[in-house]
Order: sequence, then C-alpha cells, then structure tokens
Amino acid sequence: MAPMVTFSFHGDNGSYYGKQHIEHYTKRAKGGAGLIIVQATSVFGAVDFTGMWSTGDIAALKQIASNCHEYGAKIIMQLHCGNMDINELSAEEIHSMQMNMKQAAIRACEIGFDGVEYHFAHGFTLCKFIDASYNRRTDQYGGDALNRARVLTQILPEIRNNTHKNFIVGVRMGEYLPESRDGIEAARAFEKAGVDLLHISFGMQPPTNPVPEGFICSPITYSGCKIKREVNIPVIAVNEIRTEEQVRFLIENDYVDFAAIGRGMLADPEFANHVINSEPVNMCSGCKRCFWFSDHNLCPAGIDE
Ligand SMILES: Cc1cc2nc3c(=O)[nH]c(=O)nc-3n(C[C@H](O)[C@H](O)[C@H](O)COP(=O)(O)O)c2cc1C
Repeated sequence: MAPMVTFSFHGDNGSYYGKQHIEHYTKRAKGGAGLIIVQATSVFGAVDFTGMWSTGDIAALKQIASNCHEYGAKIIMQLHCGNMDINELSAEEIHSMQMNMKQAAIRACEIGFDGVEYHFAHGFTLCKFIDASYNRRTDQYGGDALNRARVLTQILPEIRNNTHKNFIVGVRMGEYLPESRDGIEAARAFEKAGVDLLHISFGMQPPTNPVPEGFICSPITYSGCKIKREVNIPVIAVNEIRTEEQVRFLIENDYVDFAAIGRGMLADPEFANHVINSEPVNMCSGCKRCFWFSDHNLCPAGIDE
C-alpha cells in the first residue's frame, strides 16, 4: 500500500491520528497488503512530542502497527520534512531538521514500526536536496550526488545505532532529478550509504516520456523498473497499478520487487487478496476525487470506512 494522506480523517482528543486511521490501515492489512506505508508524517515534533507525535498520536500509531502485524503485514512510516526552500536554510536549520529526521525514525522503531521511508519525492523539502537543478548549495549538502544525499546519509549511522538490526530505512524518490542520470546517481548514493529500500515515484515533476512498447504500466512505474536495474537493493514501483495483470507483469517479470498500490487500495481494501486469488478487483476509476483536499470516503468505487 502506497502512502496516502487521509485528509478527511481526524484523531481523538485533538490528536492527528486516531480511530479512523486505525480502522483504515487495519482493513488494508486484513485485505492482504504485504507492506503498508503509512501516510506522510511530519518529522517535526519527533524531538519534543508536538505536532503528529502527541501522546494520542503515538497510542494510535502503536495500535496501527500491532493490528497490521496481526494480519501479517509489515508496516513502514513515511517521514516528511515539509516544503521548505533548501537553498535558504542555514547549516543550523539543516542540522535541526536532521535531528528531527533521526528522532522520528527512532520513535517509529520504538512504536513498533518495521521501518521508515524518507519522502524525497514530489518536490518537497528533501526532494529539493537531491534535484541537481534545484539544489544550489555550496556547502556539504550541495554539489555532487553524494553531497545532495548527505542530508540523510550523514544521520544514517546514528539511526542504525539506535534501532534494531532489521529496521528498514527506505527512500521515496523520483528518477528525473532533473535528468535520469541524476536519479540513478542519487539512488546509488543512498544504496552506498546503506539505505535498504527505494520507492520510485517522481521528483519535482512527473515524467511524461512514452514507455516502451509492450510495457503495460505508466511512465512513473517505468522509472521504478529503470532504477531497479541500477541498484542491488529492493525497489518498489508505483502509479496507476490497478489490475492483477499489471501486478503480475511487474513482479513475475522481475521488473521490480514490490508493486505499490495507492488509490486502488482506497477503492478496494481487499485489493491484494483479490489479486493473489485472481478474483475481480473493485477497480479505481482514476477520478481523482480522493486526491488532496477532497474526501476519500466519497470514493465512488464504494468503500465504506
Ligand atoms: C489521497 C492521496 C494522498 C497521497 N498522499 C501521499 C503521501 O502522503 N506521500 C506520498 O509520497 N505520496 C502520496 N500520494 C501519492 C501516492 O502514494 C501514489 O504515489 C499515487 O497516488 C499514485 O499511485 P496510485 O495510482 O496507485 O494511486 C497520495 C495520493 C493520494 C491519492
């Protein structure tokens, strides 16, 4: 299950996460998802327990992790660093963000999550670091691909020292940063530093290049397949994967290691079981009503949360 912010949900007693989230994720774990990536969660507040890290949030997230485990799913928390202009950040501000990034991972581990995924995609703060055309920094966080990835790679040893040995540290990123070779270099920099898992969506902008003939998924999904050929760590592909045929095409041909399903799992919480059992999927129509500030309870495919 791909990370998807549940914009219409709210927690209990003023917290962000609550009963609605617990039901939402448990239902998808029960529906056979092997790996659930919980929605973008801000790292800010992980040091001082503000924001998404209040006592109520932590209780709800613990429950989400344990319920998902009960149904056999692994669970990862996507960690988000907002949308700042990285060229304007002082070294101290970067250091403070890194403290939050590190602490959020350690807390996710304590809460019972199997790992974290840093959100280096979709043009947000971390994405701007690894995009070669956006990042104009002249310090250790700008310049070549190793420097541009440093915002995470620098703190990885401390994360490892404070989490158990199987704790997964992943990165969600794009291929075109802005050229394909920049994405490949970034992927290799993360791999070299010890990142466990890459999840390929898009960077500052979605790619529009046509896919090769016979490739039955989208250009974004194709990016995942390309990065897979360049690294030796597992790769997740995503975007508009809606049918059993597409899932089997990607996995059975070894194009990638995981097929992430986003909207398809809003439309059909049992998507994974239906694919595994070759049963009909309640298919996402791509109407995009679930996107951003709309209410995904209104999914016309008919989910009832
Ligand atoms: C309602 C909604 C919320 C999303 N929130 C996130 C998010 O928190 N983090 C993220 O990286 N992507 C987010 N996305 C993008 C999805 O993870 C996924 O990449 C995208 O929807 C394409 O996959 P799909 O066609 O299977 O839905 C969101 C998408 C939707 C529809």
